[in-house]
Formats: sequence, structure tokens, C-alpha cells
Amino acid sequence: MIIGVLKEQAPEQRVAILPEVIPTLLELKTEVWIEKGAGENAHSPDADYEDAGAVMRSRSEILDRADLFLLVSPPDKKDAESIQSGKVLIGTFSPLTQPDLVKDFKEKSLTTFSLDTVPRITRAQSMDVLSSMATVAGYRAILEAAFHLPSFFPMFMSAAGTIKPAKLLVLGAGVAGLQAIATARKLGAVVEAFDVRSAVKEEVQSLGAKFVEVEGAVEDKAAGGYAVEQTEEFKQRQSQMIQDHAIKSDVVICTAQIPGRKAPLLIKKETVKSMKNGSVIVDLAASSGGNCEVTENDKTVTFEGVTVIGNSNYPSGMPVDASRMYGKNLVNFLKLLINSEGSLHLDFEDEIIKGACITHKGDIINERVKSYIEKS
Ligand code: NAI
Repeated sequence: MIIGVLKEQAPEQRVAILPEVIPTLLELKTEVWIEKGAGENAHSPDADYEDAGAVMRSRSEILDRADLFLLVSPPDKKDAESIQSGKVLIGTFSPLTQPDLVKDFKEKSLTTFSLDTVPRITRAQSMDVLSSMATVAGYRAILEAAFHLPSFFPMFMSAAGTIKPAKLLVLGAGVAGLQAIATARKLGAVVEAFDVRSAVKEEVQSLGAKFVEVEGAVEDKAAGGYAVEQTEEFKQRQSQMIQDHAIKSDVVICTAQIPGRKAPLLIKKETVKSMKNGSVIVDLAASSGGNCEVTENDKTVTFEGVTVIGNSNYPSGMPVDASRMYGKNLVNFLKLLINSEGSLHLDFEDEIIKGACITHKGDIINERVKSYIEKS
């Protein structure tokens, strides 16, 4: 079986795998073809891939001959047309927000796996690209905030007087939020965090942050650890509480998301107006609508003296470690699909394979994606 890796299209800087995982793919009795220059932006030159045992090929050769493609983003229309039916694509395709892409995959009878739909169970942790990329995003959000904040993060006691530490509010304490808390604490900030899932309270506190509570949140065990839509009454209390805490903060990090839905609006324009001049909001939920009303996706704007950064793709800006983590997740997943002869063996009884599979032989396999597409 030939595994093909294409160069991702700008502005994406990551590559699906770094050279370091190629020996593992060769042990699986596969051949690995890498597009020339694919790892350039992730600082992995072609020679490193070749030294690791891969073969460098042109894009058209790979599109024509590879049996299985390892990708970060979905293929564009032109590439998708060159890939023949029955081939396998593994990447991050956000199928719940891209119905047309799913329909194209289905019509072309491609076998597609989207690692953002791998079930969040213990056995699948080593394949969890959402967690890997959220770790990068949470870390990077703090560095961006620190860079844009016109004050220090840590407390300073100097001959010129005492400087108070920065106050931070983190909205959403999932993987990105917890990483943001940990990074901000290392830089010496005083951190508060809020989430609708009370289960995260202890984790927040163990990182040295204060958990801000709003009573009456709806939690649904069937949602697999994810947040669910809240009642109007709760939203109003939450909004007031966030306003009270945000206006005392120097930095607000927004990470709150609900899978497959628009991100909850947590910071209204009015709240931003009341925030301190010079304060910073980093909105990681920007691509799904943002948690802040002022956020513009992929832009940094200044509103009433507050810097609002809308960026949902920080992993692309840290391509070396982001590709490293992503590639390891991919290879761990691939081990479930390839048998000892190096051939594809799809066991749909395995909940990880079934959960990650978007389309196969002209059908939509993931139940949630299927019902979503049928309704759309
Ligand atoms: P996410 O990116 O979907 O959401 C981020 C955070 O925003 C979540 O903690 C969510 O509760 C919170 N949120 C949503 N609406 C909100 C609102 N209105 N106000 C405040 N906060 C709100 O979530 P992420 O980080 O991908 O993971 C969520 C959970 O999934 C984890 O905490 C865990 O329970 C589970 N998980 C399980 C894994 C495993 O077992 N393999 C791996 C990673 C996560």
C-alpha cells in the first residue's frame, strides 16, 4: 500500500507527518510517498524524509497513485477530482460544519476518516487530534495575549515600586482552556476560569486558578463530556457574571465551544466597552462565530482600547510541534486500519473506526454526521 502525503495549501503551515514517524509506517509494510517540499514550513526538508525511508514524488504522481492520503485539511476541489473512487483519506475535515464536503466524499465513493470525530474515550487518547491541537492553541493564546498586553503578566517588586500581576479570565476550561490556565500561571498571572461543566472545577483549582461558578448549568452525560446548549435564564445569569469578572480582567481567553454548533456568545459589545483600556481578548472560538461579539475571524481589531484577537488556527503558527503531535495521532490511528500484511482492514465493530469514518462505499458511516446531513 502506498501512503501519500501532500503539501498543505497556504496559509496552512503544518504537514500531516514529520520524518520521525516514517520508520513506524515502514514497519507497517507500507511505502511512504511525500510531495516535494511538503515539510518545508514545518522545518522538515525533503532530505530528512528521504533519510527516514520515504520517497519524494510530485503532487500529481501522489494524487494518481497513492492508496491512502494523510492530510491536515480537506483536499481542494481540483485535488479531490484527481483522487479515484475507493481511495482512503485521513485528516481533519470538520464534517459537522462542512455538509458539501461530506456529500462530495460520498458521491465519489471515497473512504474518509476525520480524526476530529474519533470518540473521546480512553483508548483513543493517543489519536485525539482535537486535544493535541487545543493544547497548542491554549499555550499560544497566552503568548499572544502577553505580547499584546501593554503590562507585565507576573508581579514585580523593584526599586521603581511594585507591579501587580495581570488578571486573567478563561472562558471554557476544556483542553485549550486548561492549557491556557497552566501557561498563564507559569507566567505569574492571577487566573479565574469559568465553564458550564462543573466536572472541571477540580482541574481548574489544581492548576492554581479560581473556578467561577454560576448555578443552574444544564449538563448532559449523554453528550460524552461535552457542553450542551444552556437555558435562557442561565445565559442571562452567566452573562452578568462574565461581565462582572471581565471588567476587572486584563486578559480574557475565550475557548468555549459546543461541537457542531455556533460558539456561545459570552462577551457582548457592551462588556468590551466596559473593559480596561489596553486589555486583551483572545478568541479561539473565532471560526465558529466567536465567544465575543466584537471578534472578527483571522483578524486582530481594536475596539474602545481593547485588543480583540480572533484566531482559531494557532496550531498552524507552531508547525513543528503541532505537526509532530498531529502526525503521531495519525499514525496511532493508522495502526488500527492496517493488518500485519500491510493491507487495509476496516473493522467497523471497532467504535473508534466507526466513529471516525465519515464515508465508505457511498454511505455516510458516522451516525451523527449522517443525521446532520440528512437534515441539512
Ligand atoms: P470544546 O473545545 O468542545 O469546548 C471547550 C470548553 O468550552 C469545554 O470545556 C466546554 O464545556 C466549554 N463551554 C461550552 N459552552 C460553554 C459556555 N456557554 N460557557 C462556558 N464554557 C462553555 O471541548 P474540548 O476541550 O475539546 O473537550 C471537552 C471535554 O471532552 C473534556 O473536558 C473531556 O471531558 C472530554 N475529552 C475527553 C478525552 C478523552 O477521554 N479521550 C480527550 C479530550 C477531551
